[in-house]
Amino acid sequence: MRVFITKDYEEMSERAFEIVKELVVENPYAVLGLATGTTPLGLYGRMKADHKKNGTSYRHVRTVNLDEYMGLPAVHEQSYAYFMKKNLFDGLDIDLNNTHIENGMAPSAEEECENYNRLLKMLRQDIQILGIGSNGHIAFNEPGTPFNSQTHVVELAESTIKDNARLFKDVSEVPRKAFTMGLKNIMDAKKIVVLANGANKAKAVKEAIQGNMSENVPASILQSHEDCTFICDEQAAALL
Ligand code: PGA
Repeated sequence: MRVFITKDYEEMSERAFEIVKELVVENPYAVLGLATGTTPLGLYGRMKADHKKNGTSYRHVRTVNLDEYMGLPAVHEQSYAYFMKKNLFDGLDIDLNNTHIENGMAPSAEEECENYNRLLKMLRQDIQILGIGSNGHIAFNEPGTPFNSQTHVVELAESTIKDNARLFKDVSEVPRKAFTMGLKNIMDAKKIVVLANGANKAKAVKEAIQGNMSENVPASILQSHEDCTFICDEQAAALL
């Protein structure tokens, strides 16, 4: 596991952008595993700006996203499908048919999980971008999730609902369940880049990198990945 400590959020985002750009230029058909949340916004902003300025093309790139709220349609402003379109895809030349995320409105949750696992087998991530929750979760894999888990439905932890409430009008509007890639699906990525910024991530970052590998800290599984890089700003790295 490699750890880069950057001065601030901007430098963290720049480093991540350099890694993604190099991959896409080298392999125009790359599969990008993408994340939502506030952490990757600086990375996504740089990808859009670079596409506009330098014409870096995403025409053949395929994407798979980590997770989606259950019960929100893709057009809902708080859905992760909407987030990705607004914050990244609309600013690139990507073919939306090549972008994938769980269907929050799927009539059968079980079938949706099976379908997504099948898709992930065909579209193995060349790189997986991750944020980390203040409780050590990755995607919506909350503490206690088995390391060998695949796509499944989760009841969100209270701390996650609270963390995400800022994006909704009221905490009561935050969905209580979500679809998420499992930890095994994430570990299948060829390369993983975890981004973390801010003091509220410091404890999770320390436990993920230096703690025991334990299902109580889902991100600690990353210690056993052969190509995983943490990029943390100074505040998130403060306890290392
Ligand atoms: P954040 O979420 O980027 O909004 O901090 C990260 C996460 O919960 O995985």
